[in-house]
Amino acid sequence: MALRIVGFSGNLARPSRTRTLVQAVLDTASARGLGQTAIFDLIDAGATFGQTSERAKAHPEVEAILDAIQKADALVVGTAVYKGAYTGLFKHLFDLFDMTALARKPVIVTATGAAPHHASVIDYHLRPLFLFFDCSVATRGLYALQPDFESPERLVPAFQARIDRTVDELAQMLQPARSAS
Ligand SMILES: Cc1cc2nc3c(=O)[nH]c(=O)nc-3n(C[C@H](O)[C@H](O)[C@H](O)COP(=O)(O)O)c2cc1C
Repeated sequence: MALRIVGFSGNLARPSRTRTLVQAVLDTASARGLGQTAIFDLIDAGATFGQTSERAKAHPEVEAILDAIQKADALVVGTAVYKGAYTGLFKHLFDLFDMTALARKPVIVTATGAAPHHASVIDYHLRPLFLFFDCSVATRGLYALQPDFESPERLVPAFQARIDRTVDELAQMLQPARSAS
């Protein structure tokens, strides 16, 4: 059975550079035959998502995202940088998981922002969050700035080399699961 690689992008509007980056990583993984992919974002979670105080009270569209993330063999997560960190609603989605729900899952962390120095969101915000969940976080996170995009829907071709190196790492992380499937 094909492995499931699920993307979650913390964008509040579409089109979204963050969603484009997450989708590009998923497309690269899919083209390499690493698994079947699906992507969700905060728009999919619905307008009242911010009022969800616990998973048991989540609307079906939110539970569908949580379920897909929990059952995934690997995650590709992304956030726009807001005020120097991940968006509040990106964190809110992961606040709804039990602390053991994502254990051992391979995760690629990505972000987009306007300021080069806020690449720190990868190592100071995203990586600690997924290490809290005992995930296996790829060493090569991806941070894309506005010049890395031709448009919100398309990265510049030169960025693909960085995605390829990160997906190399994902392939290694998924090797035991691929051998078993
Ligand atoms: C409310 C708000 C706060 C932002 N704060 C930052 C910031 O602190 N640092 C930064 O580099 N970019 C910041 N940005 C720029 C966004 O991170 C950047 O445009 C990002 O690529 C948007 O992603 P999206 O197209 O997926 O929405 C901010 C944008 C908004 C709307």
